[in-house]
Amino acid sequence: MDNTPSQATPILRLEHVFKRFGGLTAVNDVSVDIYPGEVIGLVGDNGAGKSTLIKMISGVYRPDGGRIYLGEEEITLSSPMEARNLGIETIYQDLALCENLDATVNIFLGKEPLRRMLGIFNQVDRPHMLEESHKVLDRLDIKIPDLSKPIRQMSGGQRQAVAIARALYWNARLVIMDEPTAALGVPEQRKVHELVHTLKDNNVPVIIISHNLQDVFATADRIVVMRRGSKVGDLLAQDTSGDELVSLMVGVD
Ligand SMILES: Nc1ncnc2c1ncn2[C@@H]1O[C@H](COP(=O)(O)OP(=O)(O)OP(=O)(O)O)[C@@H](O)[C@H]1O
Ligand SMILES: [Mg+2]
Repeated sequence: MDNTPSQATPILRLEHVFKRFGGLTAVNDVSVDIYPGEVIGLVGDNGAGKSTLIKMISGVYRPDGGRIYLGEEEITLSSPMEARNLGIETIYQDLALCENLDATVNIFLGKEPLRRMLGIFNQVDRPHMLEESHKVLDRLDIKIPDLSKPIRQMSGGQRQAVAIARALYWNARLVIMDEPTAALGVPEQRKVHELVHTLKDNNVPVIIISHNLQDVFATADRIVVMRRGSKVGDLLAQDTSGDELVSLMVGVD
C-alpha cells in the first residue's frame, strides 16, 4: 500500500536509487517521497543500508543508479557542501559540528556575515552572529549558558541543539539525522524529540535514522524499513507496531 500523501509536491524524491561497494549492493532500487513537514523514521538492522542511503542525499556518495529530485529539480550532488547550500542539513551525533569552535561559529559555519571596517576591508561580524545565535536558540527554547565555549565541551544534547539551530536559522529544506539520540540521556532524548517537532511545525521535513524504536514512534509520521539494501516497508507510524517493524527488519528467509 502506498501511504504517501498525494496532494503536494514532495520536497525530496528518490527514484530507484542504487549504491554498490564492489560486489556488495548497499542500496538496492530504493524509491521514497518525502513531503513538507513530514517526519520519516528510517529503520533497519545493522548494515541494512540506511546510512548509505542518506549519504547519497547529503552529497557524501554519488548513487550508481536512479534519480534524486529536490522539489521539481533533479539534483546530482558532488559534495556535502553542495547539499548544504541547497538546504539539505545532515546532523550526525558527533560529526556535524566543528569541535574546537563555539556554538555561534558553528551556526554560521561557511556563511559568516561580513562587516566593512574603516571602509576598506571586511571583517566577520561577531556581534551580529552572537545576537542572531541567541535569537534562534531562544526560539528553540535551548539554554546554552556560555555560547563562547567550544562545542567539544558541550553535552551531546546541546550539540544536537546547535546543529538544529543552524538548520532552522538557514531555513533548511530538509533535515537528516543519523542516530541523533544514540549517546544521549533520557532528558536530552526528549529534547531532541521536541526539536524534531519544532522542525515539523516549521514545515521542514526530517529523516531520522534510529535503532531506538521509541525515538521513531515519538517522532515519525511514516516509517521506512530497510533490509539488506532494499526498502521492505513504508508504513504510517500510527498503523504499525514495534513488533511489525522488527519482523520486517529481520525478515523471514
Ligand atoms: N564505504 C563503504 N565501503 C564498503 N562497504 C560499505 C561502505 N559503507 C557501507 N558499506 C557496506 O554497505 C552496507 C550498508 O551499510 P550502511 O552503513 O549503510 O548500513 P546501516 O543501515 O547504516 O547500518 P548501521 O545500523 O549499522 O549504521 C553494509 O554491508 C556495509 O558494510
Ligand atoms: Mg548507519
